Amino acid sequence: MPMDLSLYPPNAAVDDGRLTLGGCHVADVAQEFGTPAYLIDAAGLRQRAREFQQALTSRHHRSRVMFASKSFPTPSVMGLIADTGCGLDVAGLGELLAAQRTGVDPAHVVLHGNAKSDAEIALAIEMGIGYIVVDNLDDVDRISRLATKPVPVLLRVSPAVDAETNAAMATGHDASKFGIPSHQITEVIERIRREPLLDLRGLHAHIGSQILNVDQFEQAVASLAQLERFDVYDLGGGLGIRYVPSDVAPSVEEYADRLVGAVHRHLGTDVELLIEPGRSMVGPNGVTVYRVTTVKRGVRTHVAVDGGMGDNLEVSLYGQPFDPAIIDKAGAFEVCDVVGRHCESGDTFVVAHELVEPEVGDLLVIPATGAYTFTMSNNYNGALRPPVVFCEDGVARVAVRRETYAELFGRDVRGG
Ligand SMILES: Cc1ncc(COP(=O)(O)O)c(C=O)c1O
Repeated sequence: MPMDLSLYPPNAAVDDGRLTLGGCHVADVAQEFGTPAYLIDAAGLRQRAREFQQALTSRHHRSRVMFASKSFPTPSVMGLIADTGCGLDVAGLGELLAAQRTGVDPAHVVLHGNAKSDAEIALAIEMGIGYIVVDNLDDVDRISRLATKPVPVLLRVSPAVDAETNAAMATGHDASKFGIPSHQITEVIERIRREPLLDLRGLHAHIGSQILNVDQFEQAVASLAQLERFDVYDLGGGLGIRYVPSDVAPSVEEYADRLVGAVHRHLGTDVELLIEPGRSMVGPNGVTVYRVTTVKRGVRTHVAVDGGMGDNLEVSLYGQPFDPAIIDKAGAFEVCDVVGRHCESGDTFVVAHELVEPEVGDLLVIPATGAYTFTMSNNYNGALRPPVVFCEDGVARVAVRRETYAELFGRDVRGG
């Protein structure tokens, strides 16, 4: 049976039985850079960034796509996207510094966070970023104290939408730790307006991540329309993607249609509109390649690879299903549990999944792993964080190299 590439990046193909990405044989890339490794379809990612911009700007003249850096917070990926004309949404000093490294126009940067430090607010003010998003009254105090000139801000509010997604990814309800709950919004707006150096331009709302029902974005817009009108609306990210063949995800066009339609109906046609896609920008353009280390046939067949929750926390955090495949091989399918190398039973990618005759040394690829995997990579069991490799036009080039043991132990002060 031919490999189903529908979950793979647009520039993936099977060439003479071998999987390629951006014209590079995945097996050669794995050989050169080792495993596990995050491979990015660089042209696919650029194309996706342009697709978002085209979908938005063709429907609404005052709009900008702000890539949610948290989904892949490294200057090489953020810069590739910013170079297509997108802005960057950042949270925390590290992401703000990463944005600075990309050379993006600071006016196209938005700073978030429910617990911002003085240092990040001070740098944001010094850089002259587009907007700081006020999340709470402590932000109001901090920004006013640190401001030396008027600072454009947006207010993050709860649109009181309980998004249909994993509870850990729902952020738009009144009990959320993010933003101002609906009954306090008017009071906080008045409080911001009493600060001479806070220039309140608009509202921000982000209802959650991996949202597959676009009605919910419309509901968020309708909810914002209950409040007083502003010139700027940042509607966050959240568009879901396909992880397994049975998933159905809205297209960028469908999302833009419904979102902009709702904005025009409820908020007007002249407002400045920002969106912050993360998962839907990078997720489909990345795959992770692993090598099979162990095949244990007992009560169940456990196929273990050389990565796991050290490089992909999405399963453990959100129960996200994935669709791994052994590549470059034909044969009969065997039902297996695909597991990681870490000391947790929960370090399991998928149970009762069909793989082609798994053997030690095989290469196993998991598609749709472009978002939040690199972000949350960690050193569990002494794992080294994997490299990021851009594959394009037949050339594989390292964007982030693999961590070294010297780096892993470099912060430890015992002798060494
Ligand atoms: C404020 C904000 N904007 C944008 C995003 C990106 O969301 P997603 O990756 O689902 O598009 C997030 C992530 O949850 C967020 O917290």
